[in-house]
Amino acid sequence: MTKKRFELCPADELPPGDRRIETLDGFSVGVFNVDGEYYAMKNDCPHQRAPLCEGKLTGTNRSDTAGEYNWERDGQIVTCPWHGWEFDVTTGESVFNPHRVKAKTFEATVETSEEDTGYSATSTNGSVSDSKADMVSDGGSCDGCGHHIEGSEPPVETYDVEVEQGTVVVYV
Ligand code: FES
Repeated sequence: MTKKRFELCPADELPPGDRRIETLDGFSVGVFNVDGEYYAMKNDCPHQRAPLCEGKLTGTNRSDTAGEYNWERDGQIVTCPWHGWEFDVTTGESVFNPHRVKAKTFEATVETSEEDTGYSATSTNGSVSDSKADMVSDGGSCDGCGHHIEGSEPPVETYDVEVEQGTVVVYV
């Protein structure tokens, strides 16, 4: 089935540690920024359908040896607000039974686009210059327009015209 693409927001509006909850294609979806990576999860707990993505973001303890605990996955575990089941927002897997109890996840990413700022390169006398052929190498007059040119500067001013903007995009 073809996924639908939704542009959520500029990436800088969803900084690390933040989340947004939006309705996308009829689903309530939570989108999380975990250490600069974006993850989307259905806002629907598999236990009794609580708004899972509204829960507290935390980490979890892991123990490989009796009496020793290590805090890990800080900021990527969401705790269901109703009964406290915990899920990893990066995978949707529950902490207590990761292979059998999972929340639904969606693809989330940041896509960049180049936008034209409206600037263009023009000659110093205001007319559009289209060619390298009009340049002279060490001063004198421009072959095309006769305009005097100092030194080796080309008869055009140039501007940076590319702006990269990151947008958080979710595929549902
Ligand atoms: S509804 Fe989420 S733990 Fe019960």
